[in-house]
Amino acid sequence: MEALPIETTRGRWRTIGSLSDQPDGVPSEWFDDLMDRARSSRQKAYAPYSRFQVGAAVRMGQAVFAGANVENASYGATMCAERAAVFNGVWSGARQLDLVALSTTAETGSDLEARSPCGLCRQVIAEFAGEETLVLLDAGSSDEREFTGEVVLFKNLLPWPFRLGK
Ligand code: THU
Repeated sequence: MEALPIETTRGRWRTIGSLSDQPDGVPSEWFDDLMDRARSSRQKAYAPYSRFQVGAAVRMGQAVFAGANVENASYGATMCAERAAVFNGVWSGARQLDLVALSTTAETGSDLEARSPCGLCRQVIAEFAGEETLVLLDAGSSDEREFTGEVVLFKNLLPWPFRLGK
């Protein structure tokens, strides 16, 4: 049976996979504000080559950190939004990643693959994620103050990260 979407004040979040082992550690009250930050951060992307702008916001402990993709003429030097946001938090001393919000300029109705973190970013998120870490994906909306999107338990996005020496 399809799980009911999670309703927040300004959003409707379709759940992907099971969130049943998601306890109260990551309340849905955080969703709207974090996605707001991801969307506003997206405006700061530097993406003249792909023209694909990505904004990320991460909640780490009590604090929120944001990032956007920064491209480079030497394409491989590009930095993704998610890694920028996580590194930002880590540089501030945070180590526990509770919630990730991601917003891209992919058209409304795009496949999940176009709106979810790349493999490299999943590996970086895994370094600081826990059993309860959630990821919010922006599915776009006609009104910037409203959200439609998905919520997924991070470990479902990368069930088997690389870990050194385990
Ligand atoms: N990008 C991100 O910022 N995050 C991802 O997870 C996937 C891709 C950026 C990198 C590049 O600037 C643009 O999106 C197109 O790949």
